[in-house]
Amino acid sequence: MKLQGRRVLVTGSSQGIGREVALRLAQEGADVIVNYRSHPEEGESASAEIRALGRRSVAVGADLANVAEVRTLVERAAQELGGLDILVNNAGIEVHDAFLDVREEDYDRVLAVNLKGVFFATQSFARLRRNAGQPGGRVINISSVHEDLPFPNFTPYCASKGGLKMLMRNLSIELAPLGITVNNIAPGAIETPINAKLLHDPAKLSALVANIPLARLGKTQDVAGAVAFLASEDAAYVTGATLVVDGGLTWNYSEQ
Ligand code: BGC
Repeated sequence: MKLQGRRVLVTGSSQGIGREVALRLAQEGADVIVNYRSHPEEGESASAEIRALGRRSVAVGADLANVAEVRTLVERAAQELGGLDILVNNAGIEVHDAFLDVREEDYDRVLAVNLKGVFFATQSFARLRRNAGQPGGRVINISSVHEDLPFPNFTPYCASKGGLKMLMRNLSIELAPLGITVNNIAPGAIETPINAKLLHDPAKLSALVANIPLARLGKTQDVAGAVAFLASEDAAYVTGATLVVDGGLTWNYSEQ
């Protein structure tokens, strides 16, 4: 129960890594606002699971690509919980396409959700923290090993994650006077809906697993544990860092 009484918003938490993070932080004692875009029923069920743990939770719909919706989401989360202590920027998308074929609308959507959404969610959160008048707060971004590693045929995704790395580094300095720490988690290949195609392609899957020293895909719990650490007092002096959670993939990487 390292997060007793903490008030948290996790974006994109109706499924995948975000859902696991929301539940894990609630198990540590936090009250958690769940956010969904297109599956209200999944958002509601995640929220209900959190309430069943005895924590407060509401599911709020918002598209992270839309800055007005992002601002409303953060404000509504703070209203529901009487403030916010921790923001987990988890929502993310990827589109598979050769660079030569990338469509402008796909580029715009990937950059909007993965980078612009994080930028303005964090801005709203930091303004709230400033207005609350007490120093402190945590921003934890779910980035990717591809904030550093090339990932051919996912160039907008890599550009967004590379951008997220520098956003995090900048904000670790700029938000330090408010007592807010800012860190990234860089998951490798995790068993989630974003990897649905890969999970159903045995040849690609075994080629990928062969590149992972720990010889398995990651589980959402592997990522949630890292978030719980960065959210806790144990990480009070950690800011501006990327915590890689990839089973060793980064140092053993070859083109997939
Ligand atoms: C991507 C996955 C990919 C993994 C490892 C993640 O960021 O979302 O599609 O399998 O990186 O390359």
